[in-house]
Amino acid sequence: MAQFLISPAALQRNAAILQEVAQQSGAHLLVALKAFSSPSCMKYLQPYAAGCCASGLYEARLGARHLGGHVAVYSPAYREDELRELLDFAHHIDFNSLPQWQRHRELCLAHPRAGKNHNSTDKPELQFGLRVNPCFSTGHTPLYDPCIPGSRLGIPTAQLRDADLTGISGLHLHTLCEQGARELADTFHAFESEARDILALPQIRYLNLGGGHWITKPEYDRSLLISLIRDIRDRYQLDVYLEPGEAWCIHTGILRATVLDIFDSLGYRHAILDVSASAHMPDVLEMPYRPDVFAVSSSPGTPQADPGKSSLFPAVQLSDCRYEPAGRPGEHPHTYRLGAPTCLAGDVIGDYSFTRQLRVGDELVFDDMTHYTIVKTTHFNGVPHPSIALLHRDGRIEETRRFHYQDFESRLG
Ligand SMILES: Cc1ncc(COP(=O)(O)O)c(C=O)c1O
Repeated sequence: MAQFLISPAALQRNAAILQEVAQQSGAHLLVALKAFSSPSCMKYLQPYAAGCCASGLYEARLGARHLGGHVAVYSPAYREDELRELLDFAHHIDFNSLPQWQRHRELCLAHPRAGKNHNSTDKPELQFGLRVNPCFSTGHTPLYDPCIPGSRLGIPTAQLRDADLTGISGLHLHTLCEQGARELADTFHAFESEARDILALPQIRYLNLGGGHWITKPEYDRSLLISLIRDIRDRYQLDVYLEPGEAWCIHTGILRATVLDIFDSLGYRHAILDVSASAHMPDVLEMPYRPDVFAVSSSPGTPQADPGKSSLFPAVQLSDCRYEPAGRPGEHPHTYRLGAPTCLAGDVIGDYSFTRQLRVGDELVFDDMTHYTIVKTTHFNGVPHPSIALLHRDGRIEETRRFHYQDFESRLG
């Protein structure tokens, strides 16, 4: 049966790096739950994280319950009933547009946790911010670029300049996706050049620099990030928050799949698997990207060291298995089109070659499948949902969730 298998040790490896960045820069490092929010894993991140970044009420509740600490919420729009609940326990609530803020301002500022003097420099338990669109693109994928022309995400800096900021004590900038500290620094400086006076207002106490920072990748320039944050804190006396999602989870999990059928058709050799790009790893189709794939054989091999550093080895490895990386089509003698057991013609993960022929029943592993996968899965076509499990340091597999027919039925109303 298909399975998402996650390594708590790998999560902690990333978390320790992020904690060190927090300690050296003075920033607060939040876990963006939109990337990964499996409750059973939160205890591994909790000692390292300052809290969570939530996209709305449900993620905020999950974060408050399973991570604790600071709860920062940003949503493109809030329903009043959701907002009323959030006011009782969130710490930062950031708004996407001036009309949203104006519509809810009275309700927000009347809440006892919001304090009384809204333009003072005191820090109440609950503070409100505005998401800004600095209109400064550094990304390459329009789907993930909040600064694309016509974007609905954030208030353009020029609009912010004329706004009534009564009751606002934070600014939120999220523009990056899988990017480096250089892009963050360029974005901040572009924003700063237009908004220096807003950043310097005494009522502005926090700056949230969003997510999209690939901090735990070996090539990420952490010293640049740390000096940028220190500089912002020194010059503007702001509390700086970062809310990466992916950086907590990169190279911490795999999706294990089984070959269900193999056949030739129209010039391709197809392998149908028990997993679907559409239902279980939709970014493969949306972004799109090509995951690393490994063929697994049960013959014991030497333990393959250094997961997290090399794409030659999957993030999670069972000690009695050997993992052989698949190549580009034609690179190895046996090429297959890896496809899903769904009706969607384009539900294909890609064309991969192997050193040996695949057989029905073989296991294949898709690497780096913790972030933006489990949180996005569906029961499309009623394909059985992969179970979710943890591989502990002692080799024990702990299954934390298995899905059944009832899960499919009960979702559909
Ligand atoms: C507002 C906001 N914060 C944080 C994140 C997390 O980004 P990532 O997982 O790329 O670090 C996102 C991702 O879309 C986001 O939209």
